[in-house]
Amino acid sequence: METRRNNSAIETVIKESRVFSPPATFVEKANINDPAKYQTIWEDSQKNPVHFWESQAELIDWSKKWTQAFQWNEPFPKWFLEGKLNVAQNCLDRHLEKKKNKIAYIWEGEDGVVKKLTFQELYEEVCQLSNALESKLGLKAGDSASIYMPLIPEAIIAMLACARIGVAHSIVFAGFSSHSLRDRIQDADCKIVFTSDVGYRRGQVLELNKTVREAVSDCKTVKNVLVFKRNRHTDLQSNELDWREFVNDQPKTHKAQPFDSEHPLFYLYTSGTTGKPKGIVHSSGGYLVGVATTAKWIFDLKETDIFWCTADIGWITGHSYVVYGLLANGITSVIYEGAPMHPHAGRIWEIIDKHNVTTLYTAPTAIRAFMRAGDQHVEKYSLKSLRLLGSVGEPINPEAWMWYYQMIGKAKCPIVDTWWQTETGSILISPIPGITPLKPGSATKPFPGIVADIVNEEGKSLGPNEGGYLVIRHPWPSMLRTIHKNPERYKESYWSKFKGLYFTGDGAHKDENGYFWIKGRVDDVINVSGHRLGTMEIESALVSHPRVAEAAVVGRPDELKGQGIVAFVTPRDSGETLDVKSLAQELKNHVANEIGSLARPDEIKFTKTLPKTRSGKIMRRLLKDLAAGKEISGDTTTLENPSLVELIEN
Ligand code: PRX
Repeated sequence: METRRNNSAIETVIKESRVFSPPATFVEKANINDPAKYQTIWEDSQKNPVHFWESQAELIDWSKKWTQAFQWNEPFPKWFLEGKLNVAQNCLDRHLEKKKNKIAYIWEGEDGVVKKLTFQELYEEVCQLSNALESKLGLKAGDSASIYMPLIPEAIIAMLACARIGVAHSIVFAGFSSHSLRDRIQDADCKIVFTSDVGYRRGQVLELNKTVREAVSDCKTVKNVLVFKRNRHTDLQSNELDWREFVNDQPKTHKAQPFDSEHPLFYLYTSGTTGKPKGIVHSSGGYLVGVATTAKWIFDLKETDIFWCTADIGWITGHSYVVYGLLANGITSVIYEGAPMHPHAGRIWEIIDKHNVTTLYTAPTAIRAFMRAGDQHVEKYSLKSLRLLGSVGEPINPEAWMWYYQMIGKAKCPIVDTWWQTETGSILISPIPGITPLKPGSATKPFPGIVADIVNEEGKSLGPNEGGYLVIRHPWPSMLRTIHKNPERYKESYWSKFKGLYFTGDGAHKDENGYFWIKGRVDDVINVSGHRLGTMEIESALVSHPRVAEAAVVGRPDELKGQGIVAFVTPRDSGETLDVKSLAQELKNHVANEIGSLARPDEIKFTKTLPKTRSGKIMRRLLKDLAAGKEISGDTTTLENPSLVELIEN
């Protein structure tokens, strides 16, 4: 498979210069604040990453201690071999002795209703559900379960109950369509789906169980659907179980059985360069060591923290830094169901003041939207509880970084710009907030134990300010283990471009201080508001419409969302009668129905033909330039159709 190159992402780049030392008031209290000591740890970890990770494995409870830290059957890693642990026990039971009355989650609904759950309460709910799943449905290690839920505590309870009984969960973001849900359920052979009758967002009611019904009608493996009823009058069908009734007669304790370190904790589907999303498989031991360590070091965790990661649990950020990494450290988190700007543009700041949030971890798209909404929405709130800010999911532009730093952090909170992926499981490149001088727009340096590099097309290390491909030179504990049911695709996607190096799919450069600047994807994946979408996935959705002959989808720069989606479509009926506007609308809705509204194209351009090379490949570089409104650049001599792209407009 050819990886198409995004030239702009791998060009030689200009130096960026502004540097912000970590604020003194923060450094004073930071857990890690001795630069010389940290530098030694970091340098040692670059020479011997396995040794670093061995020392961090102490952070978690092993029911049976591992005997060997790492084994590499290239490209398949194993970490903490022969070790046994229970991930849910690490997140809950082991905290009960000291902090059973500590709040684990503060949940807030869009309408302002608040529900708090202590570690003890969360433990009891997880135990009841685990008991019911085992005794009533016979679920056991090796099975898998799909979770299609809004961001409510029950979604996390479902994750932890699965983890507790060794069932791999596959969470599907509740904005995905029934088709997407069905495909993911089928691929993972899920036996059960957890859902709720409805979710709420932007004042709208989302009929989640309706989507689940459409999806499971085509899924032979699904025996039951467990529905958390938020509206007591919701009717259930024969294969649907009422969550409260299902658990209420169950014991509030449950003896957790230990599982092998390599036991799959979850599958998470993400977009790749082909039409079909890939089921990323994550382990138990290595994953937990990775997320617990990075959460502790990068977020400078303190017992008194109120941590708010705004991601939904449908994404990897939610898995690692709403749930596993934070709970493993026994930290209180805020979760919010709803849109951060609803019902007013200051909602997020209101919640921070209301719950005294200390750490906010969000995406650049959100920061840009808050910035655009205007400072008056921020000024109403003190934000005095904040001590640390984080960014994730896409490159943060320096303007948004400065606004976040000054307007939200009042120049006293460091910003950790964290680079990572669904596949990496935990953060790989990030500042350490009490140590690393910050440069707006740079994720700074690799985390200890992560050996990152920039290489050229031949896999050769590049020097300062030379643009190339971001690769990881040594396996790390929380990395994906494979692609579910598709080890060949795993090899092909990550290990075939450069021998022995993990290929991230991102273009980047390092500056003269060894800081990494991530530019974005160099493959056919686009990043819309921090969400990853495969262009071919959207193309497949478009060509499934009867009026579409051919389609090519590209990303174009978008001030707010990072990238927007532009589709070039050749209609089957391109005659005089074609109503371009109404067909465009119909196709946008079609994509939203097929994949989910997050994949809805921003613009559809109709063309008589698509520009192709003589060998029949669509010239995406040219379409990208066209979509971005640029002059057509570069070599077009291999074009089959010299008239380039003839747009149909009316
Ligand atoms: O292109 C990079 C971008 O998001 C991609 C991974 O997407 P996903 O698997 O959905 O995970 C997102 C949340 C971890 C990466 O290949 N990306 C992620 N974080 C950053 C980033 N790009 C620049 N800076 C970041 N901090």
